[in-house]
Amino acid sequence: MVSKADFKGKHFISMSDYGRPQLDYILNVADEMAKLEKQGSQLARGKVLASLFMEPSTRTRLSFESAMFRLSGSVTTVADPMTSSIKKGETLEDTIRTVMNYVDIIAMRHPDNDSATRAAKVSTVPFINGGSGTWEHPTQTLLDLHCMRTAKGRIDGLTIGMVGDLKNGRTVHSLLKALRNYDVKVYCVAPDALKMKPEVIEEVKDRIEVTEVSDLPRTMPELDVVYMTRVQRERFATQEEYDKVKDSYIMDRKMVQKHGKKDVAIMHPLPRVNEINTDVDDLPNAWYFRQMKHGIYTRMAIIALALGVY
Ligand code: NCD
Repeated sequence: MVSKADFKGKHFISMSDYGRPQLDYILNVADEMAKLEKQGSQLARGKVLASLFMEPSTRTRLSFESAMFRLSGSVTTVADPMTSSIKKGETLEDTIRTVMNYVDIIAMRHPDNDSATRAAKVSTVPFINGGSGTWEHPTQTLLDLHCMRTAKGRIDGLTIGMVGDLKNGRTVHSLLKALRNYDVKVYCVAPDALKMKPEVIEEVKDRIEVTEVSDLPRTMPELDVVYMTRVQRERFATQEEYDKVKDSYIMDRKMVQKHGKKDVAIMHPLPRVNEINTDVDDLPNAWYFRQMKHGIYTRMAIIALALGVY
């Protein structure tokens, strides 16, 4: 049986570390947090979160910080590494060894794939991975699952399509790892150059059916959820390489209405660039704006659990 004791003082690094009972537990705590967000809560009173963001972020950083404030905790932030000693050449490990003296919990985003693992190794306070290079973004997955539960009423039984930059997009790596715990079918829809990382498919393929395809219109009729992603421009070596694939898939109103199930849910971690046309925004199928709200509930949950105050 999973209990809150399983999360107290623990780091949150990778979706590989979580099975179905743990995920159900966190998502159920997030349901409680949705109520507390409105009522107000004193759960994290006197506690401090460090929010260290060494790559651009709007949603993840602000929702971590807002989640901490909603729990009556406080926040200290580095949103621009140029303003901290990282600029002077301090190692990631030494930065964490410093910050952990000042706070009770750390959330960090960093461009290196191994950053979360390295940080967690030295941190004596709970460390939460807010996005590590192209590797993982596990708290995004919590909000994606929580949103999916709301949009479709369940996760089991769904056919889910992940579309776009499945190679460089960290959100889809965490999401696919988490989905191995559910009774789902997954289509990975990408051009050859942006195919899902083979090691992630390897990790899940004994548990769920994953089909790799490149044709979105032909796959659309199967899908209950379409998880669109941005082509990750910042991970390309040259502009030419990016230009070749940047508009591989564009979801527009016609695509939803002509090829999609009537109640298909369109999701996206955001920010979007071109991959979802604004003419989708006012369709009932558009979940990507509502999706963001789930980031507050799930981050409140993970903060409260890791602090041991829930
Ligand atoms: C994602 C990320 O940073 O990985 N954004 C987010 O956290 N919501 C997706 C992206 O940047 O494309």
